[in-house]
Amino acid sequence: MARLMDMPTVLVTGGAGYIGAHTVLALKGAGYPVVILDNLVYGHRDLVEQVLDVDLIEGDICDRTLLNQIFTQYDIQAVIHFAAYAYVGESVENPAKYYRNNVAGTLTLLEAMVAAGVQCMVFSSTCATYGNPHQIPIPEDHPQEPINPYGMSKLMVEQILTDFDHAYGLRSVRFRYFNAAGADPEGRLGEDHDPETHLIPLVLLTALGKREHISIFGTDYKTPDGTCVRDYIHVTDLAQAHVLGLEYLLDGGQPEVFNLGNGDGFSVREVIAAAKTVTEQPIPVVEGYRRAGDPPILIGSATKARKVLGWEPQYAELEVILAHAWRWHQQRHA
Ligand SMILES: NC(=O)c1ccc[n+]([C@@H]2O[C@H](COP(=O)([O-])OP(=O)(O)OC[C@H]3O[C@@H](n4cnc5c(N)ncnc54)[C@H](O)[C@@H]3O)[C@@H](O)[C@H]2O)c1
Repeated sequence: MARLMDMPTVLVTGGAGYIGAHTVLALKGAGYPVVILDNLVYGHRDLVEQVLDVDLIEGDICDRTLLNQIFTQYDIQAVIHFAAYAYVGESVENPAKYYRNNVAGTLTLLEAMVAAGVQCMVFSSTCATYGNPHQIPIPEDHPQEPINPYGMSKLMVEQILTDFDHAYGLRSVRFRYFNAAGADPEGRLGEDHDPETHLIPLVLLTALGKREHISIFGTDYKTPDGTCVRDYIHVTDLAQAHVLGLEYLLDGGQPEVFNLGNGDGFSVREVIAAAKTVTEQPIPVVEGYRRAGDPPILIGSATKARKVLGWEPQYAELEVILAHAWRWHQQRHA
């Protein structure tokens, strides 16, 4: 108990969202006191109150006065920063919205951290910073050439973090996620985006009869079955990596960047076939044209996270990812 009381308090921005909420659960499991800051534009108050049971401050990372109050009120030692907009298509239509929230918002947060003497941040970056890959699996030192404003906004923050380390000693772990998927294995949390654009929830919502069909965008890619291949990583494994990243920084670790993926890819057709097996439901498919900006294959090498952080994904099998997500969607949409 004495040890628990000594655990450093962590501010989780975007903690009412999908990956953030799973990470709060993992942090609580590891004994960390947590405060969430989320403007609830996409987050879920009901899940915070019913499942997470931590302080939720409804507010915006762009609000410097609020940030100052939070850092005064709580003895925060580290920030895990998920809050961002993450719709690639919308970022192309409305880049200002993305640069303001993801870049300017993060800058405001970082300035408040420096002023308050908080020196550790775990940051949600993305494989979208790599753009079209030149090699598979993608290592961390692959060139970063994002092909949309969303990816660029995350790359800009990565650069800001490098500069803040040099100038102010603010150390960060930057995680570049591949495709987050799945749900809490105990069924307490899961993915609930509106609008939903991710393949696995869309496939499962189709199996539930909430959508008429699943669209396949492009069947003529140079992949084994012609559809795009992606690296799916269980959200609980992602959450665990954040606890490890946090502890790495709290132990004095130097700034680092890590891919988080399974190092294995599944095509759109493979995901749909596996979902049919898991759900035992029909999943109507409509085949369409390619979408602009979809690389044929995105698979990440997470060897570094395994080696440096000791990260061991527990739920790498696609069927397990789908089974956990299926249970969640059945409950959430009952
Ligand atoms: N889901 C993925 O596969 C994936 C892949 C790569 C990177 N990421 C990144 O991971 C992070 C979390 O993704 P997610 O899927 O959980 O998204 P999400 O939309 O479920 O969660 C983001 C949360 O941040 C909140 N938020 C947004 N802007 C805010 C602001 N200005 N102030 C306060 N709160 C704000 C939203 O209300 C939401 O609860 C994002 O930064 C995203 O870019 C996600």
